Amino acid sequence: MYSEKVMDHFTNPRNVGEIIDPDGVGQVGNPVCGDVMRITIQVEDGRIADVKFRTFGCGAAIATSSMITEMAKGKTLEEALKLTNSAVARALDGLPPAKLHCSNLAADALHEAISDYYAKTRTRGQALKVGG
Ligand code: FES
Repeated sequence: MYSEKVMDHFTNPRNVGEIIDPDGVGQVGNPVCGDVMRITIQVEDGRIADVKFRTFGCGAAIATSSMITEMAKGKTLEEALKLTNSAVARALDGLPPAKLHCSNLAADALHEAISDYYAKTRTRGQALKVGG
């Protein structure tokens, strides 16, 4: 029922963990199944220099988290914002229809981490302006 790629990313997930002192954090939960995904990013020169995830969830959620971190690493923030749940599912050679919603978590968590980064840098910019 799962593709070989899904099984590979589920049994050998990439970029597991948490970046210490991250530039952006995205955490989302699925209210239906209760799964939770957390993505932390490190940004350098407008690109995602590093990205890690922790997922408390089903196999498809773990595989999509792993895949989206691989796809996002090295991309500009604008490019990473364009990564969609269906792009992640395609990169995994598809997901069973009942598991498609799991890929939403990965895209949502990444997008939220990027929004968090933008919010923080905007606040920092304003603080600098006010301060000096
Ligand atoms: Fe909840 Fe997959 S069953 S994310």
